[in-house]
Amino acid sequence: MRILVAGGAGYIGSHMVKRLPGAGHDVVTLDDLSCGHRDAVTGGEFVEGGLGV
Ligand SMILES: NC(=O)c1ccc[n+]([C@@H]2O[C@H](COP(=O)([O-])OP(=O)(O)OC[C@H]3O[C@@H](n4cnc5c(N)ncnc54)[C@H](O)[C@@H]3O)[C@@H](O)[C@H]2O)c1
Repeated sequence: MRILVAGGAGYIGSHMVKRLPGAGHDVVTLDDLSCGHRDAVTGGEFVEGGLGV
């Protein structure tokens, strides 16, 4: 399955981004980097942007 991790450059999200591929999933990270770190996203596709509301 292809999974979107919003906030994937943050603490909890970055752990999800690391673990999901091992469970057989493709990961897309969406993060506006307001308090996350691009370097924390170690795999999959990264999209810089906000969820917006
Ligand atoms: N070592 C540790 O134990 C440790 C370290 C850090 C944090 N924590 C805990 O983890 C929790 C916080 O972790 P978290 O992952 O929920 O928060 P976080 O702040 O680490 O991650 C949130 C992510 O969401 C992104 N973001 C925020 N608003 C956004 C928006 N509108 N659109 C797109 N991206 C957006 C931020 O840039 C960030 O990368 C707290 O409870 C904290 O105490 C623990």
